[in-house]
Amino acid sequence: MTEVELWWGRIGQVRDEFAPDLDPVELGRLTAYVRAADKARFLLGCTIVRRVLAARFSLPAASIRLDRTCPECGKPHGKVRAEGVELSVTHSGDLVGVAVSDRPVGLDVEKVDPDLDVDGLARISLSAAETASLPRDGSRALAFTTAWTRKEAVVKATGDGLRTDLRTITGPPAGFQLLDLTTDPGYVGALAIQSVEPPVLRTFRF
Ligand SMILES: CC(C)(COP(=O)(O)OP(=O)(O)OC[C@H]1O[C@@H](n2cnc3c(N)ncnc32)[C@H](O)[C@@H]1OP(=O)(O)O)[C@@H](O)C(=O)NCCC(=O)NCCS
Ligand SMILES: [Zn+2]
Repeated sequence: MTEVELWWGRIGQVRDEFAPDLDPVELGRLTAYVRAADKARFLLGCTIVRRVLAARFSLPAASIRLDRTCPECGKPHGKVRAEGVELSVTHSGDLVGVAVSDRPVGLDVEKVDPDLDVDGLARISLSAAETASLPRDGSRALAFTTAWTRKEAVVKATGDGLRTDLRTITGPPAGFQLLDLTTDPGYVGALAIQSVEPPVLRTFRF
């Protein structure tokens, strides 16, 4: 059986006392964020990962070793990795999500922006058929963002990230499952996981 734990937090939960559990690499990134909302989203993502793994491995949150090395350039902005578990982190608006499993997993959430430049983004991210099937009414941004989160979930599960031409991702790759997620009103989400069977999701509020 393929199982995934999904943890959702909201930036209103952020507390100053979270920061001391971060490692020097994370503290460096935290300090570098200029906007308070970016800081809060990053801090909450780090904290959810650390506290969930701390409970799982019966260790203090600060002692969880995380590797964020980007395989492209070596900077610490890549997929977050920990020994013995597969992870995916996502942030948008007030929401932060973390997926934990024993197989490669990708999680993406996006706040739906009704004023999104759908045509511009569709040109770089959707196939011609996907663009043609977008509704022309008020649900256009929602439909586009749903398609976007599915693609992001896939490239986050494979670890390829935005190196991949999103126009070529029109469904789950062979051996992967792709699911839409319902989160908060005004947000859409998707999860991709390397599995031959649909995963069993266990969803928690952080
Ligand atoms: C990862 C990515 C697909 C998600 O972007 P997004 O929708 O803007 O942001 P999300 O909040 O959903 O996801 C961010 C999280 O994805 C994770 N992530 C970063 N790179 C990743 C990758 N290649 N694969 C999977 N997950 C990745 C990180 O954990 C990050 O969380 P963090 O801020 O705590 O470090 C996109 O930012 C990306 O591809 N970035 C890399 C682009 C690139 O190749 N840059 C050149 C590097 S040298
Ligand atoms: Zn890089």
